[in-house]
Parts: sequence; structure tokens; C-alpha cells
Amino acid sequence: MTVRFAGIELANPIIAASGTFGYGIEFEDIVDLERIGAFVSKGLSREPMAGNEPPRMVHTSAGMLNAIGLQNIGVADFLSKKLPELKRYPKARCIVNVFGYQVTDYVAVIEQLNDAEGIIAYELNVSCPNVHEGGMTFGADPGALEYLVARAKAAAKRPLIVKLSPNVTSIGQMARIAALAGADAISLTNTFLAMAIDVETRQPALRNITGGLSGPAIKPIALRMVYETAKAVSIPILGMGGIVTTEDAVEFLMAGATAVQVGTASYADPRAVERLVKGLETWCRSHNVERVASLTGSLSIPWLKEKS
Ligand SMILES: Cc1cc2nc3c(=O)[nH]c(=O)nc-3n(C[C@H](O)[C@H](O)[C@H](O)COP(=O)(O)O)c2cc1C
Repeated sequence: MTVRFAGIELANPIIAASGTFGYGIEFEDIVDLERIGAFVSKGLSREPMAGNEPPRMVHTSAGMLNAIGLQNIGVADFLSKKLPELKRYPKARCIVNVFGYQVTDYVAVIEQLNDAEGIIAYELNVSCPNVHEGGMTFGADPGALEYLVARAKAAAKRPLIVKLSPNVTSIGQMARIAALAGADAISLTNTFLAMAIDVETRQPALRNITGGLSGPAIKPIALRMVYETAKAVSIPILGMGGIVTTEDAVEFLMAGATAVQVGTASYADPRAVERLVKGLETWCRSHNVERVASLTGSLSIPWLKEKS
């Protein structure tokens, strides 16, 4: 079940996604932290953040809309309060998600994390508005993305995963830019910009008006984006977006992902990540797949071969 990417080895390719698994330690009584491939922490900023005003989460017919506003305890508290707790689980693999509103914020967080033990990689959330560039997200602006990734890579003493925003015209182009700027791996997708309205009050369902859509509603779009990204870059891909079942995870691997992340599914079933580890083992056994890594990019399109 082992997979390798960016110089990292994971016991299996199932990773808990950022923002849906706290700082990992909160799940210690629910999930065997050493059994899952890895988990990604809630996004950390330079200073603690309170997030947006409620309501900031609503259910939609096949997903979840959130505008949490990147609430987090800040990098210093993570290092002093959360990371030491994780030492009790020496085989747990922690990836830290990093964000900021300026390039210097990202660099400052990475520099603070560099000297800490117990982190295997950084995941850069580029879906934040760039305050220097008029609020456009780093992930939607090719020039800003290139600069951010290059600066983050220069600062990082660990592998750098760049988590792309799906709210772009060409995901392949953004992935190529991130790869050329030094990303060791790409993760995608983050949430899709969306909204919901309460027709009785005629008000937006979220205080923030718009939010990010996740869960089964986005799965086919996220899968298409992973497929396109796999064609655009040769660095490893961590795929996510609406994964609930084992077959969902297998689809992402076949489309080109080396590992997958599971987010919203943990809200309905807090044990979802561990369930998927077991599910994938069973699936591989019943399909005579000896190495799960062999599934990556194994999508077959016979009619394309016939043409060439
Ligand atoms: C409540 C919530 C909070 C999230 N917080 C973060 C975050 O801090 N950083 C980040 O990169 N992604 C964050 N995400 C995005 C998820 O990690 C994931 O990319 C997205 O939800 C799609 O996967 P899913 O459909 O399995 O949830 C958050 C998602 C949700 C639902």
C-alpha cells in the first residue's frame, strides 16, 4: 500500500485534507493516526485568526458550502501546543498547510516551521486573496503564483506541495507554473467558489455571501482537473474533491494522482479516512492489484490509442 512522492514515503495513499481534520491530534480517539497515510493540518497563518462571522457553513444538496475564513490558532501555538502532542504517535505523518495574504506571510510561517520536528512536508494554500495585488487569489494569477512558489520553495527545508485553486480557466497552466517555480508536488482541488440563498429571508445563506463548495457535488469536476493536471506536469499529484467511497479514491488514482485527500467526508463520518484505508486494501486485493502505486495514471482510453 506504500506510495512515494517528493522524497516522502507514506504507508498508504489516503490523507486527511486540511480544514477537516483539525491539527490531527483532535482525532486521536476517533482515528488511528498511525494507520492513515498522513493528515494535513488546518491552514496556519503567522498570527491566530478568528475567521468569519456565522453563519459560515451550510449544507447543499450534494456538498457543503463554507466560509470559515481560515480560522486557526497561528503557527506559534501550533508549534508549542499541538505538535508536541503528536509525538505520542511517532508513525503519524503530519503535513502542515500554510497560508498568508502576502508572500512574506507565507515565508515567515515556513521559516518558523522549518526547525520543528515531526512535519513531513508543507502544503501551500494559494487560494487566499493577495492583498498586494488587489485581492485576486495567488492561485488565479500566474505571475503572483510563480513568485509565491519560488519564494516559498527557497525558504522551505521540507518538500513543498502547492495546493491549487480550481477557480481558474486552465488548471494545467497553473500547475505548470507551480512546477516550474519549484513545487515538489501539486495538490488539488481546493473548494469551488459558490453561494446559496435562503428564499424565505431572501438573504445569502452565508454571512460572507459566497463560500467554497466541497463534497460529492465537486467530485467529477475535481477528477477532470486531476486528469488535466497529470497531463500537464510530471511532478506527483495529490487528488481530492468529494471523495467518499473507495471507488472515488481509485478514480482519482487512475486519473493520475499518487495519493488522495479526504475532506468533507470526515464531517458525515469522522472515521472516513481510516475506513478508506481499509476499503482500498480490500479493493486492491479483490482486483489483484499488488502495488497500489501501480494504479496511478492507469486510466485506459483505448480509442485514443487506436487513433495514434
Ligand atoms: C470546513 C473546511 C475548511 C477548510 N479549510 C482549509 C484550509 O484551511 N486550507 C486548505 O488548503 N483547504 C481547506 N479546505 C479545503 C479542503 O482541504 C479540500 O480541498 C476541499 O474541501 C475539497 O475536498 P473534499 O470535497 O473532500 O472536502 C477546507 C474545507 C472545508 C470543508
